[in-house]
Amino acid sequence: MRGQGNRRQRKSAAAGLYARLNEHVTIEADADGNVVAGLDGQVLERTKLGAGAAKRTLALRTGLPVRSLASPRGAIDNEVALLVRRLARRGLLEYGLSRTNGRGDLVAIEPQIEDYWPQTAKLGANDTVALSRFAYLRRRGTDLVLEAPRAPALFRIDDPKTVAAITGLSRPQRIADLRRRRGFVGLELLGLLLDCNIIFKVAAGSEGLRSSEGDANLVVWDFHDLLFHARSTEGRHANPMGGRYAFVGVIPPPPAVGSRLAGPEIDLQQFTASSVEPISPFINLLRERHSTRDFDSARPITIAELAKFLHHAARVQWKWTTPLDFGDGSFGPEVDYTRRPYPSAGASYELELYLAVANCEGLEKGFYHYDADRHALVSIQVRAQELARLLASAQFAMGAAAPPQILITIAARFNRVSWKYSAIAYSLILKDVGVLLQTLYLTATDLDLGGCAIGTCNIDLLSKMTGQEFHVEGPVGQFALGRAAGVGDAA
Ligand SMILES: Cc1cc2nc3c(=O)[nH]c(=O)nc-3n(C[C@H](O)[C@H](O)[C@H](O)COP(=O)(O)O)c2cc1C
Repeated sequence: MRGQGNRRQRKSAAAGLYARLNEHVTIEADADGNVVAGLDGQVLERTKLGAGAAKRTLALRTGLPVRSLASPRGAIDNEVALLVRRLARRGLLEYGLSRTNGRGDLVAIEPQIEDYWPQTAKLGANDTVALSRFAYLRRRGTDLVLEAPRAPALFRIDDPKTVAAITGLSRPQRIADLRRRRGFVGLELLGLLLDCNIIFKVAAGSEGLRSSEGDANLVVWDFHDLLFHARSTEGRHANPMGGRYAFVGVIPPPPAVGSRLAGPEIDLQQFTASSVEPISPFINLLRERHSTRDFDSARPITIAELAKFLHHAARVQWKWTTPLDFGDGSFGPEVDYTRRPYPSAGASYELELYLAVANCEGLEKGFYHYDADRHALVSIQVRAQELARLLASAQFAMGAAAPPQILITIAARFNRVSWKYSAIAYSLILKDVGVLLQTLYLTATDLDLGGCAIGTCNIDLLSKMTGQEFHVEGPVGQFALGRAAGVGDAA
């Protein structure tokens, strides 16, 4: 009897997975079947269900079994499951994996992307698993969270034994061996972690210290670079972001200019104020450059202007190939290079331009890739809602009255830079984006067009539109382009 009990305990510490509302989300239902989900008094979801289903949704306050939602049986289950999926897509749910002993959760799972739904990946006794080298545990407030940049959800853990069991996966472990150990966390938790790329299946005999983790594109990524990319953009995390002024009232507004230093000062005014030299066209361009957020919908940019803009700002001017010179007399493979109008770290030129065209005379509304080598636009089929969403988020970021005529998304082919540079790859890419943005600004100014840099982009949405995974070729910057509203009207 004792042996049987132990075996059952080692089989799993988890009893089942359930979905429940996030901490601050409320749900109410009346006898007529009206269901309202809200946050801070604001209605987020209002729907009408049958009375039985409406009553059942109230169980979301404490939890509804995910199994019943994943494969609903009967009309009530169906109605509830549809509503739950909608609430999940709006980020209003989290999931708990309850303990077999009924004492709370083994872990709580917080979705980080909008279409996350918990899946328990299959693991067999002969599989070997290990923690991803991108996974990390950290304190968030009073919680301990386990996350990873590619994980669609994070895991909140407050049980030291579960934490210890997970850290034990820093070395590859066979499932059969894990199952025999006291405090085994259970196949369900491991399956959920595997589905979230927090642990991975170790392929037999192939893994070194820097394993591919089942995806060869990961090898070139440093830990901090992938984390920075996933957390400093939209789409792969649920953290508050953007211009929130989160520290108003905590610290005073930092000054617009740096503080004056105490050392001896050389006044430069005497060299510039009296200058009689005429201002060069370039200096004039710098002076004229400014951000344009509102565009003239009646007189859109034309395809000829766009072609000229791309030709002067971004086109490949020439190409060459040279053997890789390690600088110590030894040489590596032949490497291709290009020359373009703006500088690029290591002449990498890893940046690709994608154009969301909303209003351009002579060019159909749609999504295009700019082939900088052939100076051509290649049409990409995307869903109309995706295009609209991309343009709408740019409009929102600019606080503009309408979407830009053209939105250029700058995406990086990460491995072009990280193949060469360690530890600094992602920061070099962002610097490359900076110089490209200034080039786009100045070219637009010179061609009497208007533009505006945009600071955030949804890497998940772009990945759906380009078909490239966010860690293979992902957006790192955006630029709105068009004919400025009001220009020429005064004449
Ligand atoms: C990296 C970067 C990100 C920016 N992001 C935004 C943005 O998201 N929304 C916006 O309206 N302007 C954005 N801007 C434009 C700045 O607000 C603008 O450059 C600044 O206010 C100075 O004004 P000016 O460009 O007209 O000289 C961005 C500029 C840069 C360089």
